[in-house]
Amino acid sequence: MSRRTRGAPAAPGPSRPTVSVCRGCCCGTPKIPGVDHAGQLARLRTSLDGCATVRAVECLDACEHGNVIVVQPSAEGRRAGGRPVWLGLVNDPDALADITTWVQDGGPGAADPPAILELYVFTPSRRVREGLEGGGRG
Ligand code: FES
Repeated sequence: MSRRTRGAPAAPGPSRPTVSVCRGCCCGTPKIPGVDHAGQLARLRTSLDGCATVRAVECLDACEHGNVIVVQPSAEGRRAGGRPVWLGLVNDPDALADITTWVQDGGPGAADPPAILELYVFTPSRRVREGLEGGGRG
């Protein structure tokens, strides 16, 4: 059995935030009109290249909030108290820009989100929250 070296990370985890963009049965489809869904995902991937992992995921079981985006903290952000933040009705470019800026600043636990994002935050059920941790399709 080995001893942990002093100063080593307390827990493993991603070194940068993860942005999960729902692209299921409702989010990312014409069921949510007036949104450039492909452009939304492309902008996130381009803007956050090198500072966050952006992935499309299957339905997060919160369709009434579509489009849903979840920002998960980096390992450092989690150690600082950051937790995944679920954002719903992300259907306008301004909200996307605010999310992008926040994640570029470090995301949950590392930077305070712009106050306007409080309008988009929702709390899904525990079952739904726990379902996100293992899901993703790249
Ligand atoms: S399709 Fe996004 S929550 Fe169901």
